[in-house]
Amino acid sequence: MKKILIVIFGVFILMQLIRIDRSHLTIDKGKDFASNEIIPTDVRAIVKRSCYDCHSFETNYPWYANVSPVSWWIKGHINEGRKFINFSIWETYANEEKSRKLLNSLAYIKPDMMPLPSYISQHPEAKLSVEDKKILNEWMMEEAKRLDPNLEKEE
Ligand code: HEC
Repeated sequence: MKKILIVIFGVFILMQLIRIDRSHLTIDKGKDFASNEIIPTDVRAIVKRSCYDCHSFETNYPWYANVSPVSWWIKGHINEGRKFINFSIWETYANEEKSRKLLNSLAYIKPDMMPLPSYISQHPEAKLSVEDKKILNEWMMEEAKRLDPNLEKEE
């Protein structure tokens, strides 16, 4: 029994040698969603608070992101999240793409699938209130239609 514990502990210590890449990339404010003054302040504030840890280059890592293998799991979410939407490079997306990402966001926000529930349990401040959802819904819907005029015709 003691041997097994020593082995488990040894593996855990070795895991700590594999670090995740936490480098902070420089933010180009000209491309950043939250820095875009044309977008309403409340919309930017909500997205920054609830989505930026996984969907931007501005991730705030919790202390346990220093502990492998939890850190690998967290980094997986961030890599995946950034692949789908990266609000730090929002202005590099074409209009139709932005429009699609906004509609997708709404589809995930409504049933509380985003922010990820496992994240909310650790970050209650990121939970979207009914009011937050209403603000996002109104703006994202309008903006999606404005960016992709074909949407309305398809409806
Ligand atoms: C804890 C990290 C995390 C947070 C916070 C988070 N997301 Fe995500 N998001 C992910 C991951 C991981 C994926 C890709 C895998 C998946 O779909 O579950 C994703 C995927 C998405 C997708 C793409 C779904 C698809 O399949 O097209 C949308 C849209 C999205 N997120 C919107 C948001 C919005 C909007 C917020 C803020 C209200 C948010 N997310 C907050 C981690 C996160």
